[in-house]
Amino acid sequence: KGEDLRYDGQVALVTGAGGGLGREYALLLAKQGASVVVNDLGGSHTGEGGSGSAADKVVEEIRQAGGKAVANYDSVEDGDKLVETALKAFGRIDIIVNNAGILRDISFARMPEKDWDFVHRVHLRGTYKVIKAAWPHMVKQKYGRIINTASAVGLYGNFGQTNYSSAKLGIAGLTKTLALEGQRKNILVNVIAPNAGTRMTATIMPPEMVEALKPAYVAPLVAYLAHSSSEETGSIFEVGSGWNAKVQWQRSGGFGFPANKELLPEQVAANWSKIIDFEDGRATNPSSTTESFQGFMENFSNTVEEEQAADPTKAELEPF
Ligand code: NAI
Repeated sequence: KGEDLRYDGQVALVTGAGGGLGREYALLLAKQGASVVVNDLGGSHTGEGGSGSAADKVVEEIRQAGGKAVANYDSVEDGDKLVETALKAFGRIDIIVNNAGILRDISFARMPEKDWDFVHRVHLRGTYKVIKAAWPHMVKQKYGRIINTASAVGLYGNFGQTNYSSAKLGIAGLTKTLALEGQRKNILVNVIAPNAGTRMTATIMPPEMVEALKPAYVAPLVAYLAHSSSEETGSIFEVGSGWNAKVQWQRSGGFGFPANKELLPEQVAANWSKIIDFEDGRATNPSSTTESFQGFMENFSNTVEEEQAADPTKAELEPF
């Protein structure tokens, strides 16, 4: 255990903090000294209904423990109202944990458009709206810590969750670009893919798993990313059951066809095993669009003489 991570004088907004993971983030940040806006609409896990009691209960818990908190019951779709609550109650906003979420699981073939739209509105648009409202304040104070919430389902896919997974990977993309735009203003933006036993997962996980995947195990990583001492930005983390890990893209070494010849699908087919080979020691982990573009640039000089590519399907070209 290192030095205490404190958040005194700082204001944190945690969305969907009336239960599950969000509640743990709110409790921990408040315990460590932050003033917390506990946002929750109080609906069901599919986004039906609403009540202030979920947020109120958590605010009460925080206050009983001697912490500072206020409730907000608006939907994250009205992100400006959440930020307004923070400014009104505490005069600033330093930390945002975009955590609110719902599920509308159904196979793609059977999914009505409203379930696609609703899931996107709450997750991706909600995340956007909250950050959009807070951004000018963070830019002005040259400080901000934003933690967004993706999902393994967004990173890897899952049957019956096209709406959810696309919104979640969208949040990862939003995070990576915002991290670039915020860096010079000391606004750091990261995204987590948590695993936790909550009401959202209780329907699909056996009870032992719900017990092992305590939501409290996710909160410390979120708190660290929310702290002024953290320099991490633009990163994706998988976290749960006490295990914390960073995720990065990996790209195969690829296969560079001559840059001065027509390229045929037959050539792609003939070299497929090389294109998808991650085991030849040439795979890399690009961490920026510039690094990604490097692979293309390097192939510019991959040119051949006329006779070498006479029969492209037979062309046994060296990987570039
Ligand atoms: P949960 O259902 O316990 O908590 C979500 C909270 O968000 C609820 O209290 C709900 O009332 C609130 N909420 C829903 N729509 C809202 C809206 N429009 N405005 C404000 N609040 C709203 O679920 P859990 O498991 O704590 O999930 C938290 C986040 O973590 C979600 O974004 C979820 O997608 C994500 N996640 C959770 C995983 C898990 O294993 N529990 C796995 C991967 C991602």
